Amino acid sequence: MSVDLTQDLLGTTFQNPVLLAAGTCGFGEEVSEVVELDELGGLVTKSVTLKPRAGNPAPRVAEFRAGMVNSVGLANPGAEAVRRDRLPWLRDRIRRARVLVSVAGHTPDEFVQVVRILDDAEGFHGFEINLSCPNDTRRGGLPFALDPEAAARVMEGVRMLTQRPLVAKLAPNTPDFGPVIRALEGAGADGFTLVNTLPGLVLDPETGLPALGAGAGGMSGPAIRAVGVHAVWSAAGHTRLPLLGVGGVARGEDAAQYLLAGASLVQMGSASFWDPRSAGRVKKWLEGYLSRRDLDRISQIVGTAHLQRRSPQPPESADAEDERVTHG
Ligand code: FUM
Repeated sequence: MSVDLTQDLLGTTFQNPVLLAAGTCGFGEEVSEVVELDELGGLVTKSVTLKPRAGNPAPRVAEFRAGMVNSVGLANPGAEAVRRDRLPWLRDRIRRARVLVSVAGHTPDEFVQVVRILDDAEGFHGFEINLSCPNDTRRGGLPFALDPEAAARVMEGVRMLTQRPLVAKLAPNTPDFGPVIRALEGAGADGFTLVNTLPGLVLDPETGLPALGAGAGGMSGPAIRAVGVHAVWSAAGHTRLPLLGVGGVARGEDAAQYLLAGASLVQMGSASFWDPRSAGRVKKWLEGYLSRRDLDRISQIVGTAHLQRRSPQPPESADAEDERVTHG
């Protein structure tokens, strides 16, 4: 049976729900020798800032058993150069995958200026507004994503400038997604990406120094998957806007968890560093998953974990109840 992996959201059709996450595929060209970009649902570019950024001192990435930490420092050529040198490549080479340009800044005005510079260029569909980089906090305060009012100021500013879809990327280290989601939705967001990396530190016990040149960084990989799935699950209780799940997706089973929790799309990050072809395998696995369940569309599974939760089956026996408690 052939299955339909397309997803309609953000004013377009994604040919499948598997995207590459911001910061893991540059501006597409960098990975185009090893990834068939037009087979993806889409990709999110490296975050673009107003001025070029050289980034943080090396090493910028360090692995540990359950994942990795990074502190790249938003290295990118700046908005003018991205418009001139990078977007034309995407315009000319990408036909079917959908491109979101990630935007970052120290102040609301920097976000606004980046969007102003890029908005009428070709080569992309929408913006992912990166409110949550753990390595580059907002000038004079918490990361935007942890301050609903400040986050809303960014969103209001960019919303006034563009008709393109605006997806806000949120941070994992918040006890309650409700306030920031409500503030951003009120300010004009069209969807949410959950989650960015979690602040983390890896120390080298021999030197006693941080493994990363910048000290601490953002943790990603398998260790963050349950955090990301939980964030999507929680966010789905606060909004009907589309959700994009990211964090620790390496296999089809991981992507399925995000979809079941309420994500319409998933983004792959660290896993595509380790294996640039993993997105293709995730897509294949999802096709088999639907077939095994006699389902014909991927949209049929989005958020279904919530339905199951709303109609719990009574425990059949005391043993069954014990098991439920044990496994939380
Ligand atoms: O350091 C970095 O460039 C990380 C960016 C991010 O996580 O948004």
